[in-house]
Amino acid sequence: MIKPHRQRLFDAVVWTVSLMFLAMLALHEAHAGEHRYDVNAPQYRDECGSCHVPYPPALLSAAQWRQVMGALDRHYGTDAGIDAAARDAITRFVVERAGREGGAGNGLPRITTGRWFVREHREAAPKFTSAAVKSAANCGACHRGADRGDYSERGLLVPR
Ligand code: HEC
Ligand code: HEC
Repeated sequence: MIKPHRQRLFDAVVWTVSLMFLAMLALHEAHAGEHRYDVNAPQYRDECGSCHVPYPPALLSAAQWRQVMGALDRHYGTDAGIDAAARDAITRFVVERAGREGGAGNGLPRITTGRWFVREHREAAPKFTSAAVKSAANCGACHRGADRGDYSERGLLVPR
């Protein structure tokens, strides 16, 4: 038999260890959560996820998204025009979730020329022009969860 005061000490230790473990789990989840972005509107994924992955709205500013959405017929060298109702709904979706300032391109804003993106991809950059990747904008070549907005390390696999 364990004496009562020993039992209390034992309980306290078990509780402390359990709580620390739970706190660590919560921290881990919160950290993983930082690498997930909301791309989950069916219309956004259908219309803007067919030629490339549906890019995380949080990686351009609101003004930059308005610029992209205002020039869909002249979209980085292609025509991505859609009807006005779909365009307006998607504009609302991305602007509400806008965040970081991206960079410039030729005439249109780009996630891939933004300061944060360039810094984050210093090591991956030499692969952007490889046969398997082709372009920095081809996020899904390395981030296997990109079509779901998941950029966590678990889904990262840079092709050789
Ligand atoms: C017809 C094909 C097509 C459709 C549809 C399309 N895009 Fe694109 N998009 C492109 C191409 C091509 C590029 C240039 C990719 C590159 O440089 O490798 C591009 C690039 C982009 C970029 C810049 C990526 C970078 O380099 O940072 C953004 C942002 C973007 N598209 C948003 C959208 C949004 C929002 C929609 C939906 C309204 C959309 N696209 C629909 C073809 C398309
Ligand atoms: C050639 C492969 C490759 C391509 C293409 C690529 N990335 Fe990455 N990405 C990486 C690597 C490698 C890292 C660094 C991971 C690390 O060091 O934690 C990274 C980091 C990131 C991170 C940060 C994750 C973190 O740990 O904080 C985000 C977000 C991200 N990339 C988004 C994108 C987006 C959006 C695109 C497309 C516009 C893209 N990446 C294209 C390889 C790539």
